[in-house]
Amino acid sequence: MNRDGFGSRLGILAAAAGSAIGLGNIWKFPYIAGENGGAAFILVYLICIFLIGMPVMLSELVIGRKGQSNAVGSFEKVKPNSPWKFTGVLGVGTAFIILSFYSTIAGWIFAYISRAITGKLTTINPGELEGFFGNLISGSFEPVLWQFIVIFITAFIVISGIKKGVEKYSKILMPVLLLLLIVLAIRSVTLEGAYAGLEFLFKPDFSSLSAKGVLEALGHAFFSLSLGMCTLLTYGSYVKKNEKLPSLTLQITLADTFIALLAGIVIFPAVFAYGLSPDSGPNLIFITLPTVFHSMPFGGFFEILFFILIGIAAITSTISLLEVPVAFFTEEFNLSRKKVTVLIAVIIFIIGVPSTLSYGVMKDMTIFGKNFFDLADFTASNILLPIGGLLISLFVGWVWGTRNAIREATNEGKIRFLLSGAYGFVTRFIVPIGILVILFYSTGIIKP
Ligand code: PFF
Repeated sequence: MNRDGFGSRLGILAAAAGSAIGLGNIWKFPYIAGENGGAAFILVYLICIFLIGMPVMLSELVIGRKGQSNAVGSFEKVKPNSPWKFTGVLGVGTAFIILSFYSTIAGWIFAYISRAITGKLTTINPGELEGFFGNLISGSFEPVLWQFIVIFITAFIVISGIKKGVEKYSKILMPVLLLLLIVLAIRSVTLEGAYAGLEFLFKPDFSSLSAKGVLEALGHAFFSLSLGMCTLLTYGSYVKKNEKLPSLTLQITLADTFIALLAGIVIFPAVFAYGLSPDSGPNLIFITLPTVFHSMPFGGFFEILFFILIGIAAITSTISLLEVPVAFFTEEFNLSRKKVTVLIAVIIFIIGVPSTLSYGVMKDMTIFGKNFFDLADFTASNILLPIGGLLISLFVGWVWGTRNAIREATNEGKIRFLLSGAYGFVTRFIVPIGILVILFYSTGIIKP
């Protein structure tokens, strides 16, 4: 059977950057940076991105392209009959968990889109936004309905396949997002009192950083770059043999980091200008941003556009998340793409409902002191993704061998890869040790 694949370099970049850029950048990065004191956290985050994330990304792409198969099949092709294929199984499982809560937040975004379009959002006084948002997410019917819609749209695009679904939509949507964020950043930094926000973002104060913060920075580096659960491995399997993977890795990483910082520049100056609190957690963009829009000319219009674009950024990420189990089940069990997609979408919806209800009827149900939503987010982002990244690096560094990986990365020696030596060294030593130390340290296994 002929495998589907990406049609052009721009298409690959848009789809991979579309996967990386999402709620992680615009919703999560600002709020966890805010909770962990700002600049110091961001510095640690950047180190995790470039020192650990980027090499893991290249490793995922090369395994996928070498294996030309799904998360599990690629490990099997590269190293037949070895237990390493369970790294792929872990990735498939993680996709279910992340989608279960990711679709909750994406659902809130869609609810905001509908409110923005009907004009209900712009007419609310900034002081009442908190209550408005609280009301929305504590409901039982509406948030679940929006979650369903998010999963439905995702499944619809995934059924259309890579070229006609994932690639086509990503190519149009990503550039528009960038443009709008730039407009908003300009508005935000020109507000009176914006400077304090920039200082919060760029002037580190290490006393506000904890071990937990460092784990969150690492976990978020994986989450934001879509690493550790074989998403980019799966996308890598759709990339042609003559594409340059090292430069693709750099471009995806830079695009993702730029958008996260830009989101910070949109949000924190405004937070400080309006005397809001930077550590208000997950509701930061739902309360702060509408406050900003309220004060700007044509704010209502920008507001609609903004939430639509975050909605789109979320969808280009959910499709990449769904592609991992869909590719796995269709290829390994020889099933139809359509049937598999529908079935998985239904399962994800069912396991996702408790996350959505975590702010309403199920808010008192906690496990280890966390509600379902937080538990799914914490387990997937801070534990499973780093473990996935660890396994992928160990596989490349010590099992398949960095020489083989570099041969694939350089298209059998046809292209130059200046940092190949550094990539090999970092993959074998720095990445595994870095991930293990952070995991042990922050879970309390090693005491400072
Ligand atoms: N990178 C996405 C974001 O920042 O929103 C989330 C994500 C997508 C995580 C795909 C993991 C993944 F495999």
